[in-house]
Amino acid sequence: MQETKEILTAYKEVRKNADVSHANTLSYKIGVLLSSVKRRGVAATLKKIFLYLSFYLRGVDLSSENLTDLTRVGEHKDRGTAYLQNSYEVIDSVIKEVEKLDKDIKKGVFIDYGSGKGLPLIIAQKHGFKKVIGVEFAKELCEVSIENMKKMNIKNYEILNMDAAEYDPPIDTSFVFLFNPFDEVVMQKVAKKITADKERYIRDVYVVYLNPTCNFVFVNDKENFQFIKSLIFETGEVCNIFKVKRS
Ligand SMILES: C[S@@+](CC[C@H](N)C(=O)[O-])C[C@H]1O[C@@H](n2cnc3c(N)ncnc32)[C@H](O)[C@@H]1O
Repeated sequence: MQETKEILTAYKEVRKNADVSHANTLSYKIGVLLSSVKRRGVAATLKKIFLYLSFYLRGVDLSSENLTDLTRVGEHKDRGTAYLQNSYEVIDSVIKEVEKLDKDIKKGVFIDYGSGKGLPLIIAQKHGFKKVIGVEFAKELCEVSIENMKKMNIKNYEILNMDAAEYDPPIDTSFVFLFNPFDEVVMQKVAKKITADKERYIRDVYVVYLNPTCNFVFVNDKENFQFIKSLIFETGEVCNIFKVKRS
């Protein structure tokens, strides 16, 4: 992973309602493992295989899902991206990076906007966050993530089946996680909700945006967001870290 002070924009576009069923095929998974061997070597790839095997053995479901097959709530049903399983290592490194910026970050609440089947929530709990909250508009994904939380013995969590654009984060929020979940219409509303009453927050709030397709929402709002840094992963994925500006 490299880091830069220059703001980077994701190479991927928001692919609303994209078909992601190919990501569940054996040939796709073999392709991912082969490219991992090329990039990171055999030892790191074996570690990854064992990690996902441990999820599999506990019955944790992280398979990708097309949005069109799911029951979605709210007025932005066609403005979201499909549930695509994220990489454990990428989320883990992103959390570690923010921990370097603020050692007390874990004393606050971790929120994943568009939380899918809950992998980032599981990882954040392992990092010791006081509480993790998933906001997800697809009913079936909420149900699977609740089952996944039980199977991973995650205690202090909340899964909210709602449109992210409607959500008011709690005063003890410290970490906002976004993995390219929706388009700019929803992102503008989410950014407004995050900063609507920002002086009420009891600690610093970091916004961590992986594959930041709507980066401009945060970059252009200089009154409310301070750009901290960009991270680039071996996979080509980009992550931008912002901090909510307060007086
Ligand atoms: C790329 S997935 C990210 C999943 C999860 N954050 C992760 O990293 O594993 C995007 C998720 O956002 C959800 N989503 C899209 N639009 C939404 C909205 N308006 N409100 C809540 N969730 C939404 C989708 O259902 C999907 O689960």
